[in-house]
Amino acid sequence: MFNFKYYTPTKLIFGKGSISELELSLKKYGKNVLLAYGGGSIKKIGLYEKIKNILKDFNIFELDGIKPNPKYKESVLKGIEICKKNNIDVILAVGGGSVLDCSKAIAVGALYEGDVWDILTYKAIAKSALPIIDVLTLAATGSEFDGNAVISRTETNDKVGYSSDLIFPKISILDPEYTYSVSKLQTAAGTADAINHILEQFFVKESTMLNDAMMASAIKSLMINVKKALKNPNDYNARYELMYDATLACNGIFSNGSGPQNWPMHGIEHALSGYYDITHGVGLAIITPRWMEYILCDKTVDRFDILSDLLFDFKEEDKFIKSKKLINEFYKFFESIGIPMHLKDLNIDESRIKEMASHINKYENLDNEYAFYPLKEKDIEKILINSL
Ligand code: NZQ
Ligand code: ZN
Repeated sequence: MFNFKYYTPTKLIFGKGSISELELSLKKYGKNVLLAYGGGSIKKIGLYEKIKNILKDFNIFELDGIKPNPKYKESVLKGIEICKKNNIDVILAVGGGSVLDCSKAIAVGALYEGDVWDILTYKAIAKSALPIIDVLTLAATGSEFDGNAVISRTETNDKVGYSSDLIFPKISILDPEYTYSVSKLQTAAGTADAINHILEQFFVKESTMLNDAMMASAIKSLMINVKKALKNPNDYNARYELMYDATLACNGIFSNGSGPQNWPMHGIEHALSGYYDITHGVGLAIITPRWMEYILCDKTVDRFDILSDLLFDFKEEDKFIKSKKLINEFYKFFESIGIPMHLKDLNIDESRIKEMASHINKYENLDNEYAFYPLKEKDIEKILINSL
């Protein structure tokens, strides 16, 4: 087992009506606020209006139109410019993971004189960042409880992940009611993303019984509650559980003791959304069973076996048969919640697979010593082909 350091400096304010704590939460960081949001969902659900009322006494500057897979030039640079010009004290991010991630990149860029892309790609080190408070509206990425930001740069097909203690939100306001309006596809994709975050941390060389049990419980809760939320979008308890599961799923607590990891399915998916701008969780759901099938072997079967026993009662002795059943259960589950399960369904064909595999091989480090199952370029190509 590995030594670990665990640090999460984010206060979660969770549940119905939590927005009542927004004004006080912001006050201690200053008056000049950058309000960052996406393409309009927060206006449709009345949240924008509510926040503007709550913040009457603040100086609000707005950055709107942040797109899914948030874009560097279009949104990050624009946000940094607004911050620098208006002496912004604090960023208020209202939306899903894309709005939060974009705000995190802005937070470091606003206090940096050079090109923030150098920070996001670890060529330069950030020394400080503006504080971030968020109001989350979609259960998915866990950005509300982690120090990660994922930013896309369309012109180079890059989608890079940046991690730093500086960009943990100070406070995350999490009211499940704000997720009632999330579409069926985004509800399913968000769930697939959270499940995949757990699987990335489950398929590692070392884990603890405690973490294995917590991860299996979170997967079960996601699988059960997403069906309830799809059936009745206003099911408070189901939305509550989805939000709570997703918040914990990417925070790192599940991999305490597991040592460094390389998140192969995310590495592959980030290229898919870098090249084709697809929904992150959909890409992951497609890749998950194909990656599992590809890596199942004598060396890996024990982790599959443990997960099978924790999740399902297959009444089967043979570890390989159980593992195949487990993989099939994940496939059927993603399909049952309405996710298209082939890349071709997203108009992705074989034409750029080689190019993507080479891009992933170059930037994602899936073949290093930490890998549960190292992937070379040829392996990545095969997984992508099997996902068509
Ligand atoms: O733009 P608006 O109008 O707000 O609409 C959004 C968007 O179209 C909509 N939406 C959000 N809340 C809603 C809502 N629609 C109705 N009602 C609501 N309450 O949902 C759509 C998708 O939003 P987005 O923020 O893109 O989704 P998600 O939260 O899944 O974020 C995805 C991004 O996060 C990155 C992904 O790669 C992707 O770029 N990730 C971030 C991680 C992190 N920071 O730790 C880890 C993840 O692995 C992931 O890579
Ligand atoms: Zn993810």
